[in-house]
Amino acid sequence: MKEQLEQLQVEALEEIKVASTQKALNDVRIKYLGKKGPMTEVLRGMGKLSAEERPVVGELANKVRASIQETLEARIEEVKAIELEAKLAAETIDVTLPGRTTFPGNSHLLQQIIDEMEDLFVGLGYTIAEGPEVETDLYNFEMLNLPKDHPARDMQDSFYITDETLLRTHTSPVQARTMLEANGQPIRIICPGKVYRRDEDDATHSHQFMQIEGLVVDESISMADLKGTLEVFVKQLFGESREIRLRPSFFPFTEPSVEVDISCFKCGGKGCNVCKGTGWIEILGGGMVHPHVLEMAGYDSTKMSGFAFGIGVERMAMLKHGVDDIRHFYTNDLRFIEQF
Ligand code: PHE
Repeated sequence: MKEQLEQLQVEALEEIKVASTQKALNDVRIKYLGKKGPMTEVLRGMGKLSAEERPVVGELANKVRASIQETLEARIEEVKAIELEAKLAAETIDVTLPGRTTFPGNSHLLQQIIDEMEDLFVGLGYTIAEGPEVETDLYNFEMLNLPKDHPARDMQDSFYITDETLLRTHTSPVQARTMLEANGQPIRIICPGKVYRRDEDDATHSHQFMQIEGLVVDESISMADLKGTLEVFVKQLFGESREIRLRPSFFPFTEPSVEVDISCFKCGGKGCNVCKGTGWIEILGGGMVHPHVLEMAGYDSTKMSGFAFGIGVERMAMLKHGVDDIRHFYTNDLRFIEQF
């Protein structure tokens, strides 16, 4: 029996030595010290021993068990340390590696112009209105005094979806929508957005472009309000020393209508290639809201009046930054975009 115990000890210690994971060590523990293991069996056989032998074997059995136990525990600590070491090694971070750079983007030039305009007009008490790009004939034309077969429709010939729906040709339908919703109350809005026309694309035309519409309706709004407002906006966008000039024009939805020029920011009015020698650059259209348009939208045109204007966003950007081709805005060439 003594030999049996000594043999067990040798075997167990050998297995503990070669076990290299916590799981393997646990298996060794169950194998040698478990209830069904050889130690239990040896102890059970002690009853058959003589009275002198029993304490001797008992003592040895306890020693063997204690030795297996201790060796196991020590080895478990060792293995834990080894496992931790391996884990740390696998997860090391090389702090000397260069970081991954993320390049902060910025808004597209057209969006920058819109943001600047929105800031300015919100500061003047305007709110920002939006409308659908797929618009009905009613709002795009009829409510703006452009009945069916009106010749002025030709200038804005567009993409029709059905006979009665089309891609809006200007942001002016938002005027009509906002006025109807306002139920006779005063309005002060600007509406930025995309518009569409069946144009041949070239350096200054695109079948899709952006406008910002402005509309004010209130009691006793006059042409002076329009002029003052436009002056503020032009000076903000193009510099304090810019002057504006209003020329008579025609839009079906405004009466009187004006074309607005600014004094050339390159030559200051002397005449150069930017202003084509005239000293003035045409930048937008506007006018006093036509009484008939007011009436159609539910206003009493003897009490209320208003002005409206429409600005081409691309045109602003081209003038302000000397961009020579409208198509640069849409082709997403980083060499162009990154300049702004
Ligand atoms: N809607 C006109 C256009 O696109 C611009 C405009 C807006 C003119 C408002 C007058 C008043 O050409």
